[in-house]
Amino acid sequence: MIKPNVYVTRAIPENGLKMVHDACRADVWDEEIPPPRETLLEQIAGRDGLLCLLTDPIDAEVMDAAGPQLKVISNYAVGYDNIDLEAATERSILVTNTPGILTDTTADFAFALLMAGARRVVEGMDYVREGRWKTWGPRLLTGQDVHGATLGVIGMGRIGTAVCRRARGFDMETLYVDPGCAPEKAEEVGAKCVNLDTLLRESDFVTLHVPLTDETKHMIDAKAFEKMKPSAVLINTARGPIIDSDALYRALTDGQIAAAALDVTHPEPLPVDHRLLTLPNLIVCPHIASSSVATRSKMATTAARNLIAGLRGERPPHPVNPKVLISP
Ligand code: DGY
Repeated sequence: MIKPNVYVTRAIPENGLKMVHDACRADVWDEEIPPPRETLLEQIAGRDGLLCLLTDPIDAEVMDAAGPQLKVISNYAVGYDNIDLEAATERSILVTNTPGILTDTTADFAFALLMAGARRVVEGMDYVREGRWKTWGPRLLTGQDVHGATLGVIGMGRIGTAVCRRARGFDMETLYVDPGCAPEKAEEVGAKCVNLDTLLRESDFVTLHVPLTDETKHMIDAKAFEKMKPSAVLINTARGPIIDSDALYRALTDGQIAAAALDVTHPEPLPVDHRLLTLPNLIVCPHIASSSVATRSKMATTAARNLIAGLRGERPPHPVNPKVLISP
């Protein structure tokens, strides 16, 4: 039997890669940076499947360059804003993602950023490294208390809910916004559903857990910062463009908020000479919230399973547009 022909846009962890190689004829782009657009368009031609990353924009042009035999696009991520879902569905191409597996790892990291932003951990390290630590100081690097503070969670999906669970251990009061309020989740984690204005005005920490869509792009803009407390800390482990970067710069320099801690940025990566990186009250990490050894390896097997099932015409573990499975 001829094995299906697939393209993999990056060397994912070995366990997943082995599954792909065992089941398919696969070419893998083995560089650290994503394949250039021309390479992707060239490489995708004639393939039955694609395993790609959130850094690969997969639009109608890529799908058409593949040809009508392209059956499945397996994204190595829970977010799939890099894929034109409508174009895929129109072409009966199955799109899959890796939800669930990375929930707790990402929530852990959101909390790490929250703590680091609140208690100025990175500034403290810089202070020591730069030889500025002379003695214990009553006013030295005073931050915000986490215990007993109010946490505002924007988006009560899996990760938002997992962050709320962690907040309970710190005796935090939790407010959240979510379409439809997801009341069963609220009850589980003891959180209160409010509107966005209330959340922004009352929260000491605001953490973002919504997907990037036309509605959520620049959800945190100049107007949103005006409503936030001057002592507030903003955390983003979702997608960079949810925050207006120019408005964030102004909010951090004008003292509209105390600090921000970001795992995702816009642009991404953030150029080393970007003005945001000159600010002491900003922490930036290189989109690593799901990056634990165990989680990245589970994401690899899930992405491989999704790909292989889709190629076989079976229902994969995580279809994003399952209606293509039943359409003629
Ligand atoms: C995702 O999966 O969407 C994260 O951003 C990376 O793990």
